[in-house]
Amino acid sequence: VEKLIEELRQLKEKAYKGGGDERIQFQHSKGKLTARERLALLFDDGKFNEIMTFATTRATEFGLDKQRFYGDGVVTGWGKVDGRTVFAYAQDFTVLGGSLGETHANKIVKAYELALKVGAPVVGINDSGGARIQEGALSLEGYGAVFKMNVMASGVIPQITIMAGPAAGGAVYSPALTDFIIMIKGDAYYMFVTGPEITKVVLGEEVSFQDLGGAIVHATKSGVVHFMVDSEQEAINLTKRLLSYLPSNNMEEPPYIDTGDPADRDATGVEQIVPNDAAKPYNMREIIYKIVDNGEFLEVHRHWAQNIIVGFARIAGNVVGIVANNPEEFGGSIDIDAADKAARFIRFCDAFNIPLISLVDTPGYVPGTDQEYKGIIRHGAKMLYAFAEATVPKITVIVRKSYGGAHIAMSIKSLGADLVYAWPTAEIAVTGPEGAVRILYRREIQQASNPDEVLKQRIAEYRKLFANPYWAAEKGLVDDVIEPKDTRRVIAAGLEMLKTKREYRYPKKHGNIPL
Ligand code: COA
Repeated sequence: VEKLIEELRQLKEKAYKGGGDERIQFQHSKGKLTARERLALLFDDGKFNEIMTFATTRATEFGLDKQRFYGDGVVTGWGKVDGRTVFAYAQDFTVLGGSLGETHANKIVKAYELALKVGAPVVGINDSGGARIQEGALSLEGYGAVFKMNVMASGVIPQITIMAGPAAGGAVYSPALTDFIIMIKGDAYYMFVTGPEITKVVLGEEVSFQDLGGAIVHATKSGVVHFMVDSEQEAINLTKRLLSYLPSNNMEEPPYIDTGDPADRDATGVEQIVPNDAAKPYNMREIIYKIVDNGEFLEVHRHWAQNIIVGFARIAGNVVGIVANNPEEFGGSIDIDAADKAARFIRFCDAFNIPLISLVDTPGYVPGTDQEYKGIIRHGAKMLYAFAEATVPKITVIVRKSYGGAHIAMSIKSLGADLVYAWPTAEIAVTGPEGAVRILYRREIQQASNPDEVLKQRIAEYRKLFANPYWAAEKGLVDDVIEPKDTRRVIAAGLEMLKTKREYRYPKKHGNIPL
């Protein structure tokens, strides 16, 4: 027996070495950790339970029969993160460039199957040269199987991807199908469908790896990446922080934590953030920090579509998803990217039982040919769809402007909001005063001998009627007009009341969100 155990130990040591010492050193020389080092950072006490440790490729073509590596370029298993079960896979670039073949894919699929059975999140650490060329169409079939698992798991268990290496071609699409992508800044990390070489041949366009698919590009321009970080350690820390806001599966509530921040405290000073001049911008985040527990807010898509802010926080210990206009960018108006960003976040929260809080200050959708040609009708509709579809508790606070289609898109009563509050600074109308008056009184203004005077007078009348929350409150569209300092208190009370909310929908296969 001892001999057999000794043999097992040696085989395991070999398996744990992946592509061997030299390749590990090379991996380190690029500033990257190995798959096992990454998993050790993720899991409590660095411990995890591996599955399919000895699995290897069945392929023999192109010399693969002489290049067999235990694990087949991916380490899979489960462990605890802050005491909760989490599954993870980490691709091992030291083995055939972390390329994905039949067995490699099968290991990811098996981990997913277990994660789905027990209802635990999956963290995917991607570092791969893509489809394993030697395994031909079996590699592509493997991707298909992984994608399918991503889709089956979508809305059932949270899926988080860390981009910790290259991803080209089909390799980008498993990350894209997951809920959140965390990407590390640096030359060793990039993702694109088609690389710089082919881009040059096909389009004659010269572009570097980073300019085409680095973290900065994806976090600011494409919106593919939700979180950009400076190091692998930071990526792992962020993964843990993100998990702390999420339930393990769609049948659970998000984790309550006693944050020590009283539910009924004043949001002191919050009224000073909004300038008296309605045309002046301010940072909506300042309001969020003052409302949420201990000022802690995990912002998603921080650097993309900055005219809208989305992210996770706690109020009286309970997790909430916040959707807020940001008057600092385009005056808080909603464009295509902002609508996409918000809609995806809203749907994630709804899938995982996270109540939604809207903080509104928006003059409307962004006008112009650029937005119309790209389909702001189609994209803007996603936000309406997402809010209307969501059955989680939904509370809206109108801080300042709330005009037109954007007013509806930020979640109003008829669309399904459970509670709508307004600050005394709120202005709720179909459009802003000047635009409204120019349409309503066009003829009068045109024909007047003193058009400027008439315009001014009509604007003053309009403002008196609509540039406040009371007209809407009298119609019952606003539940209460509140003092800004009470914002946290009313949200906390609303959330507490809505804890047992049940709302049902017509049975259907699935809806058809405009894409
Ligand atoms: N299939 C099989 N082996 C692969 C592979 C793949 N898709 N990608 C990388 N490898 C192997 C390489 O042949 C190399 O093996 P070797 O050291 O024994 O020669 C090893 O993995 C390391 O790859 P290398 O190219 O040296 O790493 P790099 O960091 O310089 O470059 C990439 C990384 C991803 C840019 C490069 O490997 C690449 O272009 N891969 C192919 C990407 C692709 O188009 N995949 C198909 C998409 S579906």
